[in-house]
Amino acid sequence: MDAKIVLLPGDGIGPEVVAEGQKALNAVARKFEHRFTFETCLIGGCAIDATGSALPDATTAACKSSQAVLLGAVGGPKWDDPRAKTRPEAGLLKIRKELQLFANVRPVKAYDVLVDASPLKREIVEGVDILFFRELTGGIYFGESGRRPHPSGEEAFNTMIYNTAEIERITRMAARAAQGRRKKLTQVDKANVLEVSRLWREVSQRIVRDEFPDVQYEVLLVDAMAMHLISKPRSFDVIVTENLFGDILTDEGAMLPGSMGMLPSASLGSSGPGLYEPIHGSAPDIAGKGIANPLATILAAAMLLRHSLALESEARAIEAAVDNVLNAGHRTVDIAAGAKSVSTSEMGSLVVAQLEM
Ligand code: IPM
Ligand code: MN
Repeated sequence: MDAKIVLLPGDGIGPEVVAEGQKALNAVARKFEHRFTFETCLIGGCAIDATGSALPDATTAACKSSQAVLLGAVGGPKWDDPRAKTRPEAGLLKIRKELQLFANVRPVKAYDVLVDASPLKREIVEGVDILFFRELTGGIYFGESGRRPHPSGEEAFNTMIYNTAEIERITRMAARAAQGRRKKLTQVDKANVLEVSRLWREVSQRIVRDEFPDVQYEVLLVDAMAMHLISKPRSFDVIVTENLFGDILTDEGAMLPGSMGMLPSASLGSSGPGLYEPIHGSAPDIAGKGIANPLATILAAAMLLRHSLALESEARAIEAAVDNVLNAGHRTVDIAAGAKSVSTSEMGSLVVAQLEM
């Protein structure tokens, strides 16, 4: 297979981990005789520095003409001035919207050998296997917002807004995934307060009842979900929710496997390229030190092979290589629990060596 993949290293540890993701993709290309061509483009703070825009048009165009995009992370203290007219995060929101990536898929899976790296007790975390579907191009992230004068100074507002079609398409995608797993779908909302949530509940309930009768459907209020996610995480299979709730819950969920450095994510639309990234962010405090965990990005590369290139065996080869490296005891510092650790590039090379066996 010939495929064009755009790399968006971004800021902070982004470039370090994307380099390791690319190493893994190249190893897969050699082993399975594919030809991947890479184009590296700017996004985020580095793009603001170079062009004044967090998402230059050239980046959007390159992404649109590719099969898939592998992203590192955006943002950092350098661009954090709240009065700045453009922020790195705006680049991320814009590329999601431009590529119509309405579904952010975040698997949260506890690795047996890492269970003790979790801040939670082994008996809670063991066996956790959750698939989050976070709606990504709607809700309060994209609703009308602004500021206006107020007798006390100013007032500011953001608007949460969703329509039937937006809820239907993400519910379908999540329910389809549930069918291929343990057939349970939990829809998370705040229907006791928010009108938007009451629409979510009506629409998603109808879709599952009419189109996915074999899927067990339950609803949970987001505050209760925040509790249940750490008190009985094993009781969840697929979770679907709106943009802001999903943002918060997936960070909480990321603590289950111990380190955010292990978690990949895929942002998908109904057609066109998907965007794959680690969920950990730019981690400016450790940028440039060569100690970041590249496994989330390497696992994101596996998701890229699976979802955008339909290369299931190749995706599994990467996942198995990561398993083997962990089982052999290799750790980056975030998951080493004080024991000996390897660098970012050593970890990447260990995965490549496994792939080459
Ligand atoms: C994420 C991030 C982004 C979000 C930020 C960087 C805009 O937190 O991908 O979860 O809120 O969606
Ligand atoms: Mn987030």
